[in-house]
Order: sequence, then C-alpha cells, then structure tokens
Amino acid sequence: MNFDLFANEPAQQCQELLQGAVLLRGFALSLENQLLQDINRVTTESPPRTMVTPGGLPMSVATTSCGDAGWVSDAYGYRYSKRDALSRANWPAMPRSFFNLAVSAAATAGYENFLPDSALINLYKVGAKMSLHQDKNEKDFSQPIVSVSLGLPAIFLLGGLRREDKTIRVPLTHGDVVVWGGAARLFFHGVLPIKSGVHPLLGEQRINLTFRKAL
Ligand code: SIN
Ligand code: FE2
Repeated sequence: MNFDLFANEPAQQCQELLQGAVLLRGFALSLENQLLQDINRVTTESPPRTMVTPGGLPMSVATTSCGDAGWVSDAYGYRYSKRDALSRANWPAMPRSFFNLAVSAAATAGYENFLPDSALINLYKVGAKMSLHQDKNEKDFSQPIVSVSLGLPAIFLLGGLRREDKTIRVPLTHGDVVVWGGAARLFFHGVLPIKSGVHPLLGEQRINLTFRKAL
C-alpha cells in the first residue's frame, strides 16, 4: 500500500485575504513549463516594452499582452487596445494554457464563468515595482482579476477602495495565484520593489500574468 500517493502533489490552499480576494498557493506550479513556453511564444511576437504613464514617467516593469485586447499606457492615458503599437498587428492569441489556468483559478476562488479576453505580462527586474493602483479600465467589474506570479518572490500590497486605506502585505512566490473580485474588485493594489535573487527557472526576474475581461 502506498500511503505517499499524494506526497508530491502541491498543497492546494485556498486562503481568503480580504472579502472577495483569495490566495491560491502554488496553483500554477504544475504548469510552469507550459506557461514559460507560452510566455516565450507571446514575447517573441509582441516583445515587452517600457510604457510611459499619462504623466510622462516610464514604468519600471516591461509589459506586453495577449488576447483580444492589450492594456496600454501612454500620454493619452490608460486603456485597452486591440492592436500592439509596436508590431502594428493584433496582440498574439491567448495561449490555451493561460486561458485554462485563469478560468480554473477563478472558479476555485468562487468566481464561476470567468471569460478572460486579455492577459497582461509584466516583467519585473530586481528593483522594479508597481505603485498602488486600481484596475478600472475594464468594462465589466462583475468579472474578477486573476494574477499569476512566476520567478522571484514579491510582496503584494492589497488595500481598499481608497488609496490611503490600510494595505495588507502578501508574500507571493513562484506558482502562486491571487484572485480578486466582488467587494475587492476595485481595491488598490501594488507590488513592492523586487529584492535581488536568482530563481532556478527564471533567473533574476519576476513575471506576473494578469488576466482580465477587458472588453
Ligand atoms: C498588476 O497589478 O497589474 C500587477 C500585479 C502583480 O504584478 O502582482
Ligand atoms: Fe493591477
């Protein structure tokens, strides 16, 4: 009799962070190879680039997208675009592995029928960060946000509806997924500067995939 049948299965915890926000530890771990292969495919077609905020400041992350719409920022503001301004073509199609992961993570967190049409890929080098912000360029706030962490660890900040609301600090490591929707859908969130380190698979970087129903 093999009592260790599930010894190698990742512990699948579903932890409520705040009302409407759920942490799924290690949820994407078993898919790491497929995800990295698909990230490479997307970034070859639409390379990551440094976007500029409407205020004129360059973001510290490099960004690209796939799916029907890509999130963009420039002097004209934050919005979704159906085309990549660099390639002048449509964004690459969303890989099946991305879509399936996002839908199953959302369902596990209690959000059935999530239909992401946009995946944002954020590349963080050591020192890169994401200031506190709300995701509010999407049309339908009844759909959640699904955020997948790969590579170097990060501290994710999650607050409330006002920028000055108290934030909780959530340490995220390779394979973790955070889902927020419902009461938390418009909560301010951000990422503290990435500490130096080397991830065995990804080296000196963190990659975040953020899935949304944008259109
Ligand atoms: C984002 O809010 O777009 C990114 C969050 C993260 O990198 O974890
Ligand atoms: Fe965000």
